[in-house]
Amino acid sequence: MSPPANIVIVGAGIIGCTTAYYLAHHPLFSSAVKITVLEASRVGPAQGASGKSGGLIAKWAYPKELAKLSYAEHLRLAKELDGAKNWGFRQIEVGEWEGRGRRPGDLRLDESDLRLDESESSDDEECPRRSKASGFPADLTWINEALTDSYTPMAPSGDTAQVHPYLFTTHMLKLAAEKGVEFVKGRVTVLDNDSGHVTGVRYIPVDGTEEVHIPADCIILAAGPWSPSLVPALPITSMRAHSIVIKSPSSLHPNAVTPYALFMSLSLPKTPRHGAQMVTPEIYPRPNQTIYVYGPGDTRTPLPPIVDDVEVDKASCEQLWEWMSESGVFERWALGEVVREQACYLPSVSTGGGPIVGEVPGIKGLVVATGHTSWVRLFNSPVALLFTRFPHLDIAIHQGISNAPGTAKAVSELVLEGKTSCVKLDRPHPAEFV
Ligand SMILES: Cc1cc2nc3c(=O)[nH]c(=O)nc-3n(C[C@H](O)[C@H](O)[C@H](O)COP(=O)(O)OP(=O)(O)OC[C@H]3O[C@@H](n4cnc5c(N)ncnc54)[C@H](O)[C@@H]3O)c2cc1C
Ligand SMILES: *[C@@H]1O[C@H](CO)[C@@H](O)[C@H](O)[C@H]1NC(C)=O
Ligand SMILES: *[C@@H]1O[C@H](CO)[C@@H](O)[C@H](O)[C@H]1NC(C)=O
Repeated sequence: MSPPANIVIVGAGIIGCTTAYYLAHHPLFSSAVKITVLEASRVGPAQGASGKSGGLIAKWAYPKELAKLSYAEHLRLAKELDGAKNWGFRQIEVGEWEGRGRRPGDLRLDESDLRLDESESSDDEECPRRSKASGFPADLTWINEALTDSYTPMAPSGDTAQVHPYLFTTHMLKLAAEKGVEFVKGRVTVLDNDSGHVTGVRYIPVDGTEEVHIPADCIILAAGPWSPSLVPALPITSMRAHSIVIKSPSSLHPNAVTPYALFMSLSLPKTPRHGAQMVTPEIYPRPNQTIYVYGPGDTRTPLPPIVDDVEVDKASCEQLWEWMSESGVFERWALGEVVREQACYLPSVSTGGGPIVGEVPGIKGLVVATGHTSWVRLFNSPVALLFTRFPHLDIAIHQGISNAPGTAKAVSELVLEGKTSCVKLDRPHPAEFV
């Protein structure tokens, strides 16, 4: 089999950009192969989940084989390409945290509170001070141990790491571009096929109104939650999720907020505005003294046609900040100010599992690489029941940042060698739907 001459990748999220990188660095890649990445955003690559997600990567994600390969590839890329400097790569501990917030009336967030002695903070009768939360790590100093009920490590040290997803994705695209991959801003409207094989794509450039056609003998559909707009049979639904980025005070020692990713179950007491509730933010400290926090998904606004039109509901972001700044769970010294309020859409495969990776049967050259979901909290998410349960924990994991390099390597082999040998691509296969 000879490699395709014109490869078009639809979507410059992490899957599209990382696939472009792996194709351009494959031994069978040459100047005879033209690769074009088409992206609908007028801003640039990684404007959706790939730029706004948490960035946790785990050897223990799902599907198992793909996750293992992807983790090994993440480590290799970080080592060979200075991921620590270029995309904030580092190892991180990860744990499930359970605890309770204080009553707002008990909060004094002024300077005197910062000095509050540990023993004084135990006076709150609604949350009596626990003697010592079992397993609470000694260096998790930015979390109030007195408000902690339990901390459970989710994986052995060394099996979890993180990247800054926007930096990783854009770096992959930049390295692909250096090998000749072309990046074009335009929204793909039709995937053309004839007599059982793809022939090209049509797109509307971001600065134009006229449809442009480019030929293709291979199309890689990596449009994340938008993929069904081009191949409607794909069972992909999506849910919006808000996140904020907090910048810690610059006076802090760079390592003061130790690298622990926390999947929280935080019980908040009744306030004048709402009843007692349990909330489940996820907290990822990052290098550069920032902390990324993301909250529950919502289905209030359907996916807009273009990533640039994703609406950010300010109240959802403010609520995340309130949980952090008013619950007393986070040590005030670790929190500075909110520097980013954002939202993105988390794709999921409505029939369960994911991602969906492989060639569409009957249409030679059409490869699907999408349906990379996120961590799913089983007890509070509407899509939760569809996912495999992580042993002992309430979290299921099939995610795009973690699984991007393995997916990209598999797709590069499929496209340039005709078959994938680095990993067995588990179900679901596109053949099940298209
Ligand atoms: C809040 C949140 C936190 C998350 N945290 C993590 C985490 O910690 N770890 C992890 O592994 N995963 C995480 N995820 C999941 C991860 O972000 C996604 O699985 C991943 O980003 C999906 O990448 P993608 O490239 O498939 O899709 P996207 O990032 O959505 O990219 C698709 C791209 O295709 C473009 N596109 C769409 N339609 C067209 C068209 N017609 N023409 C041209 N371009 C088009 C879009 O504009 C977009 O840029 C999280 C997700 C969310 C929402
Ligand atoms: C850290 O800050 C530097 C300087 O602003 C920036 O170049 C780099 O991309 C940042 N890294 C991360 C992981 O945020
Ligand atoms: C293939 O082309 C036909 C029309 O020629 C179209 O109806 C069909 O949707 C196309 N298939 C895909 C997967 O794009």
